[in-house]
Amino acid sequence: MSEGSANNASWLKDARFGLFIHWGLYAVPARQLDKQSLAEWVKNRERLSDEDYEAFFEHFDPDLYDPAAWAREAKNAGMRYFVITTKHHDGFCLWDSQLTGYKATNTPARRDLLRPMVDAFRAEGLRVGFYHSLIDWHHPHFPVDGFHPQRDDEDFKQANAHRDMSKYREYLHGQVRELLTGYGKIDYLFFDFSYPPSRLPDIWGGKGREDWGSDELMAMVRRLQPEIVVNDRADVPGDVTTPEQYQPAAPMRLEQVQYLWEANQTLNGSFGYDRDNLDWKSPELLVKMLVDGVSKDGNLLLNVGPTARGELDPRALGVLRRIGQWMHHHQRAIYGSGPAPFTAPPDCRYTMNRDRVYLHVFSWPFGHLHLPGLAGRAEFARFLHDGSEIEREVIDPDKHAFNTTVGGLSPGTLTLRLPVQRPDVEVPVIELFLR
Ligand code: GLC
Repeated sequence: MSEGSANNASWLKDARFGLFIHWGLYAVPARQLDKQSLAEWVKNRERLSDEDYEAFFEHFDPDLYDPAAWAREAKNAGMRYFVITTKHHDGFCLWDSQLTGYKATNTPARRDLLRPMVDAFRAEGLRVGFYHSLIDWHHPHFPVDGFHPQRDDEDFKQANAHRDMSKYREYLHGQVRELLTGYGKIDYLFFDFSYPPSRLPDIWGGKGREDWGSDELMAMVRRLQPEIVVNDRADVPGDVTTPEQYQPAAPMRLEQVQYLWEANQTLNGSFGYDRDNLDWKSPELLVKMLVDGVSKDGNLLLNVGPTARGELDPRALGVLRRIGQWMHHHQRAIYGSGPAPFTAPPDCRYTMNRDRVYLHVFSWPFGHLHLPGLAGRAEFARFLHDGSEIEREVIDPDKHAFNTTVGGLSPGTLTLRLPVQRPDVEVPVIELFLR
């Protein structure tokens, strides 16, 4: 982790829950090829030429775009920051960059789409994050490589053999400068992504820190926005590491050092809008993923892929609102919370915030929950959703189980007595007040 970053990043750690937004021209094709692929990779996957892709540029017309509505939904879902794709791998820019014509202002949208979004989310009190693709499949000086849409087009490769990475690098740095000087305070920068041959030997022409000029890039970023948090995908250390579409097994460590982490997760497997996708995660699963992350000292950056007309898909909205209902009652088990120094019973997770421990019950058991190590530690217990007491007892460890008598527990175990009916919330949570 880079020097001094721990303090800068403390807001991110406290926030725990953010909204990722993948929005660009790929919302027009809105398709994937198979379950493993991402809609925003359509240009790569279908090996589309700039000409093929042009139809999406010409028909990108988000006439229903209302960033205030997006921001309100994010706020109501309990999210505390957002991260927007300023430019994805296809090279299309949502803002009015002075360094390219490949931008929203030249589509039927006819305006900078980034600025009103930043303003709207700030107005709702959310922190501002920019995703920025290091990769660019449109720039004439981005050297063709194993990820490039024209990777198998020998004529194209030959005609483009002269591409000059230093010219692209200048463009990359120039655009990052625009983004960090034109939109006020930017809290978070999410670069994406590096694939140096040492890491991904199967991809020819892989790119990493030297190609991006990552040291200078990072230095500029920190100079322009001294308090910014930056991820670690530019092939140099950052302030936060960003596991993609998986839940780490434990608090993350890199080279023995505990590392701030944020899992970015999709609602349905794709980041970009994917019209025909049926792989939607349930609100319950997503709440569990959020809780699981916090219990392991991590964040959840949950993605939406707005449509080409500029709206959040009704299916996404439905999920966000259900998560919001849960957050309404349970946010103090999330914000500012982290792991607890106790071992949770099976199918449960602990989070902890100062002297309160939150027991998240993923699978509802019958009758009792036995909590090792908590005997004599909890002075009160209640459901978090309604504040109703949960009765507790410490059963004598010498007591043997006998007919209706519970026994055979290990010393130090606190037993909670649960109702038969599982509360009707995505994940029931019991709040334990430590002495
Ligand atoms: C990636 C992908 C991508 C997505 C992202 C989110 O590396 O290329 O499409 O934007 O990560 O983490």
